[in-house]
Amino acid sequence: MSIINRWIFGLCLAFFLGMSGCSNEWQDLPSTNEFGEFGDRPFPLRQDWLVVSTPKAPVTKWFEAGLPPLTALDLPPNQWNNDQKAFFAEKTSNNILNCKSLPTEEKITFAKGLTKYFGTMRQPKIEPITEEMKPMIEDLHLEPETLATGGLLFESYCSTCHGSTGAGDGPAGKFLIPLPRDYRQGLFKFLTAQPQNFGAKPQRVDLKHTIQYGMVGAGMPAFYLEENQIEAIISYVIFLSIRGECEYSTMKNSLKDGVDDYAGEITSALKRILPRWWESNKQPMKLDENPYADEHPQRAYEKKLISAALGYKVFLDGKKGACTTCHVNYGRSSPYQYDSWGTVVQPRNLMVGILRAGREDHQIYARILGGIPGSGMPSHAHLIPKSDETGVLITPKQHPLWNVVHFVQALGDVKMKSQIQQFDYMKKLFEKYEMGDPVQVKFD
Ligand code: HEC
Ligand code: HEC
Repeated sequence: MSIINRWIFGLCLAFFLGMSGCSNEWQDLPSTNEFGEFGDRPFPLRQDWLVVSTPKAPVTKWFEAGLPPLTALDLPPNQWNNDQKAFFAEKTSNNILNCKSLPTEEKITFAKGLTKYFGTMRQPKIEPITEEMKPMIEDLHLEPETLATGGLLFESYCSTCHGSTGAGDGPAGKFLIPLPRDYRQGLFKFLTAQPQNFGAKPQRVDLKHTIQYGMVGAGMPAFYLEENQIEAIISYVIFLSIRGECEYSTMKNSLKDGVDDYAGEITSALKRILPRWWESNKQPMKLDENPYADEHPQRAYEKKLISAALGYKVFLDGKKGACTTCHVNYGRSSPYQYDSWGTVVQPRNLMVGILRAGREDHQIYARILGGIPGSGMPSHAHLIPKSDETGVLITPKQHPLWNVVHFVQALGDVKMKSQIQQFDYMKKLFEKYEMGDPVQVKFD
């Protein structure tokens, strides 16, 4: 170390020691550790645009990177393109609200209320306001110690994209298409909780899959972390979502109708939202056994082809599948639309074979059965055939939902795609397995 460097170092040390000596606040903070050099601070109150429900405005193209529709609202009107002009109408119809417009006094009361029930960045918590909440917090692993660890890990691995409050507005995330998930709406796309429950939340295993595998075709990377680190991060994502949804719901009510009692409003949201996470984590989606499964690989493959050919009919059937209303031309000409976050989404091009949440049987099954919340893709529970009291399928050879799953797999697979269109070959397979009349499959 040169003399000058040593001198500067000494000066800094003296300054630092002096600071720590005279400020009690500094000593009250949790000890610093490898990530925590910034100390503690409260979560800032949201100051962005709030989307009440999926915008109906027409949209003709993807937004420019860094300029999603909500951000474009901040541009001067003379710089808007046609899509942005139509989107602005949503704002004037009160479907998009401006969080900045809340009076400062109210902002302070609101922010203090949130801190009371959800703690600060280094000391996050979910305040158990009723006795029933205690076991829920325990079952969901949302204890303060776990959240504090998860928070530090989230800050180092995730917040560059997802932002410190989980708003999806991190410095790197802002420029991605699609945008990183904003957890504050309480909506997640890829889940395996019982879809019949209104407002189902992801199970911990779903979040784990997202973190460990990332999303092919979107900016969400895969993370190779230790098991206990992933578990702590999952808890923190759930925490950010619960905190964010309580904020979202209270902010919406405040901007629409006015709120007198912020603490009351926040706690009633928490009483509603926490049990949903808890219930969803107790009720996994039921997957019917694959009736085309076979222990012999060649036979299993042939039966899958038959099932895919049958799925072609379901896919095109406007009443049963209705897939083509959105996945136009198998997704090659899908129309753009807005999603619940006020950003643009396009029904997947299924011909490419890139699926964000996986191509395995059970993964595609879960997407079709449960739908993709927030994106506009609905649940297709009606594709499950009826079963008797014991749960045995009444028509085991015909399972429309499994058929569509196999058809989606075939669409993205060069070999299967060509085989199901070879009528003579398929006819023989239908005869071999006594599956009735063969289906003529044709697409280009
Ligand atoms: C490089 C940017 C980036 C980083 C870093 C990142 N994500 Fe993401 N994440 C995304 C994008 C983009 C999406 C949205 C993909 C979509 O909408 O299809 C996403 C989506 C998600 C979702 C939503 C899944 C669903 O079902 O809706 C979760 C949960 C998530 N990320 C968690 C994490 C966690 C936890 C970390 C840190 C360990 C992390 N992400 C780091 C970009 C990122
Ligand atoms: C109302 C519109 C709509 C309907 C109807 C619809 N989808 Fe979708 N689908 C979407 C949208 C939008 C996405 C893209 C979601 C995203 O990117 O976040 C999507 C995505 C998908 C995905 C991709 C999942 C992944 O992991 O990436 C599959 C597979 C899929 N749809 C299959 C189907 C099938 C099969 C049907 C009919 C049974 C169907 N969809 C009906 C709108 C729809």
